[in-house]
Amino acid sequence: MTGKERLAERTAQAEEIVKKYLPPAEGFQKTVLDAMNYSVNAGGKRLRPVMMRECYRLFGGKGEEIEPFMAAIEMIHTSSLIHDDLPCMDNDTLRRGKPTVWVKYGYDMAVLAGDGLMIYAFETAAKALAMGADPARTARCMGILAEKTGIYGMIGGQTVDVELTSKPIPREKLDFIYRLKTGALLEASFMIGAVLAGASGEEVKKVEEIASLVGVAFQIQDDILDMTESEEVLGKPALSDEKNNKTTYVTLEGLDKARADVKEISRRAVKLLRSLGGDHEFLEELINMLTDRRN
Ligand code: IPE
Ligand code: IPE
Ligand code: MG
Ligand code: MG
Ligand code: MG
Repeated sequence: MTGKERLAERTAQAEEIVKKYLPPAEGFQKTVLDAMNYSVNAGGKRLRPVMMRECYRLFGGKGEEIEPFMAAIEMIHTSSLIHDDLPCMDNDTLRRGKPTVWVKYGYDMAVLAGDGLMIYAFETAAKALAMGADPARTARCMGILAEKTGIYGMIGGQTVDVELTSKPIPREKLDFIYRLKTGALLEASFMIGAVLAGASGEEVKKVEEIASLVGVAFQIQDDILDMTESEEVLGKPALSDEKNNKTTYVTLEGLDKARADVKEISRRAVKLLRSLGGDHEFLEELINMLTDRRN
């Protein structure tokens, strides 16, 4: 099987798992449930759950208890996108090839759907316990999920990103933004896979470092694509950063250096991954594939 075929297979499995854990849209609060499910069902590459499971496998994990965490990370990621698109943030109208949640359900429901998904992720992750997951490991994973989502993770990064929109950003602050707004949820994906499978403290640290590099490269590539790809290919508006007058890695360093750095940072991630040993072949392929992704 080629790397691409394997990715397609793993993505389809992740897709099924994510959908299985979505709440039924019923009751007086149906509108918010519809909005939540609409955004998750719109698609997306499902990279975070795929990487989580791969990391779990890398450390010998075999159980089903990884599944609620896979669904949880995709819910949190999707919630971040719903809020990221709001008129008060990036003000975008297309996501995953469909109208954004605020366009379809209104600003009020988009705020609530983002909140709803973010917290339902924890309700979902807790289901691992009833599947026989080790309670101490599960508790640690919930902690990681919270930390990497919150003020020391994605929300912290988005705060600085939004605050500095239309302003010049020094390189060190830009690095901070990327490490948090995008890197943190990838760190959570890798770390949860490792912790749930019983990796050692040292291994989890290493995995966090690998994921951080993958995350930063991923965001730089996202900035490149924002400038170079069409709306049809992206499934989200092209030139959104320019519209918002954002300082990005590309405006700061230029397109050529940005492209070279995506490769270089990913190369560092692969090198670290190799030092872990184990069956990391697909994870390595995936990291490499992400360096020339087009959406
Ligand atoms: C988009 O993430 C937001 C960033 C962190 C750059 P993805 O590119 O993973 O979005 P989906 O899940 O495939 O829609
Ligand atoms: C998004 O960064 C990071 C998030 C935490 C959602 P962007 O604002 O560049 O993501 P896109 O391009 O809208 O997907
Ligand atoms: Mg943004
Ligand atoms: Mg955005
Ligand atoms: Mg972007």
